[in-house]
This record gives sequence, structure tokens and C-alpha cells, in this order.
Amino acid sequence: MQSFPRRVEIVEVGPRDGLQNERGVVPTEVKVEWIDRLGAAGLRRIEITSFVHPKWIPALADAGEVARRIRRREGVQYSALVPNVKGLERAAEAGLRAVAVFMSASETHNVRNINKSIAETYPVLEETVREAKAAGMFVRGYVSTAFGCPYEGPVSPKQVIGVAERLLEMGIDELSIGDTIGIATPGDVRRLLDALRQRVPAERLALHFHDTRGMAAANIYAALEYGICVFDASAGGLGGCPYAPGATGNVATEDVVYLLHGCGIETGVDLDRLIEAAAYMEDHLGRPLPGRNLRARRAAG
Ligand code: HMG
Ligand code: MG
Repeated sequence: MQSFPRRVEIVEVGPRDGLQNERGVVPTEVKVEWIDRLGAAGLRRIEITSFVHPKWIPALADAGEVARRIRRREGVQYSALVPNVKGLERAAEAGLRAVAVFMSASETHNVRNINKSIAETYPVLEETVREAKAAGMFVRGYVSTAFGCPYEGPVSPKQVIGVAERLLEMGIDELSIGDTIGIATPGDVRRLLDALRQRVPAERLALHFHDTRGMAAANIYAALEYGICVFDASAGGLGGCPYAPGATGNVATEDVVYLLHGCGIETGVDLDRLIEAAAYMEDHLGRPLPGRNLRARRAAG
């Protein structure tokens, strides 16, 4: 067991993972304003949208517009999800310098999510990562369903390692391990990190927890003990994967910041401004978001 990191980086995925599941249309200008408020709260990495097929994810059909219209703050990395070279080209045309490729550790979720088997996905992502790296971009790779699959049930560390190693061989800069359906417990996190750390240095790993069963904060605490210092989160706890039935939002960014600051770990995020940014999206959507610190602040008036 290592000591806790002094500083942790949060990757804000609300504008992508949070909004991708929204049924109603969130106007582009509201997304742009939200991203700006998240940056103003001190978040230094923001996943702003997805350049996937608009028929698959209609809520993010305005990806190019969002990327072109955001106000770029100095020192902030703005990134987007891309499933293939076509998505990469759209992201680059819209001026982005950081992208994330994604695939699943389980076969069925991979097919439902991106319409290809795991074996068919590797060459597509290989080409995408190669072109992105040749263009000097930062590339993250996600392994989804790393703890469980909505269609196949439990997923073993061995399955995750198989996909993770292929992604790392492609030349990604960072690997984000996704608990897509929010099923992991700290015991599962330890088992996976025990296996992964033999192969991947902790500095290249990020963890991406959905909070479906309320375990995300405990899971982050367990991962901190392994020296993990990048965590994904969504302001307000907005979100879910449309191709994972029953999946709910990511752990709320304000709850991660509260946890980390309480443990004496720096994030560079101003919790009050972050809660105000979460409240902005909550007001726009007109329904309560699950983030606990957002709820507590609202209850306090
Ligand atoms: P497909 O239909 O198999 O694509 O979809 P295709 O390659 O056969 O092409 C069919 C048509 O789509 C062609 O157009 C392509 O040009 C077009 P046509 O010739 O018929 O006119 N096309 C595109 N158009 C725009 N942008 C593109 C693109 N690519 C092809 N990038 C595809 C395959 C991957 C595109 C589709 O399945 C897709 O878009 N899936 C997205 C699913 C998704 O976004 N899921 C949610 C994100 S993953 C997630 O949430 C998990 C995560 O948060 C981590 C975790 O929680 O664990 C990351
Ligand atoms: Mg996710």
C-alpha cells in the first residue's frame, strides 16, 4: 500500500457522459455556458462532448458546434470521445487537441455500444490512436464494463488486462478504467488494481466510477491507497450510458472534491463554484440531480 497522493486531478465528464443520456435537447449555448462555469470552478480537464454517430447519441449531435464555441481557458484540456478516425477528424476540425477512444472488456456491451466485436474494434482504434498521436494529440483510452457487464454479468481482471494491454500497446497516454454500471466495491477495486499494477504504472491510470450502488466514494478511497491520482466525475452526478440498461450517473464531482479536500488532497477546484455550476445544469434540466453536496447546499438554502 502506498501513501495517498498529495494532489489529484479530476476529469470532468459531465458534458459528455452526463449529457449523452439526456432525452430532452439541451441547447448548445447552455452546454457552452456550463463548460465555461466548470472551467471557472478550477477543473483543468473537461470532456466536452462525443464525435460519435449522431443517430446513436442524439443528445451530442451538436459536438462540433460545442467544441467550436467554448471559451478556451488557459491551462484547461478540452477533450472529446471518438470511436474511429471519422470521429477523430471531426474533433480535430473543431479544434480539439485531446481525444478519448473507448471499448469494453465484455463482448456484448462492446457490440451494443459500438456495433463491433472486441476483435473487430482493435484495428479501428489502432488506426485512430496512430493518427491522433501523429497529429500530436493527447489520447486517453477507456476500458468500459471493467467490473461488470449489463448483459454478461461479472467481468474478470483478466478480461480487463487483455483489453488494457492492447490499448497501451497502441500508444495511448492514459488508461481510464470504467465501472459503467456502478457495480464495483472496494474489494473489487483492490483485486483489479493488484492485477493491473504489475503491468501499468499507477501514473498512467484513471478510474471512472458510476455511482449506481453508492459505492463510488468508497471505491475512490480504495484506489487512492494504490496511488491512483486521476478520477473521472460528473458535476451534479448527471449521466449514464445509453447502451448499459439501468446505468446511472458518474460519481458527482462535488462529492469527489469534498472527499479529497477532507483527506487533505489538493484538487485546484473551488467547491462553492463547482456546486454553483452543478446547480446551473440542475436548474436548466428542471429536476433534482443526485450529487450529495449539491443536495446538501440546496437544502441549506
Ligand atoms: P456503425 O453504424 O457500425 O458505423 O456505428 P460504420 O462505421 O458502419 O458507418 C456507418 C455510417 O456512420 C457511415 O455513414 C459513417 O460515415 C458514419 P454513411 O456512409 O452510412 O452515410 N459514421 C460516423 N458519423 C459521424 N461520426 C462518426 C462516425 N463513424 C461512422 N464518428 C459507431 C459505429 C461507433 C459510429 C456507432 O456505434 C456509435 O457512434 N456508437 C457510439 C456509442 C456511444 O457513444 N456510447 C456511449 C459512450 S461509451 C460510455 O459511455 C462508457 C464510458 O463512459 C466509460 C464507462 O462508463 O465505462 C466511456
Ligand atoms: Mg461512463
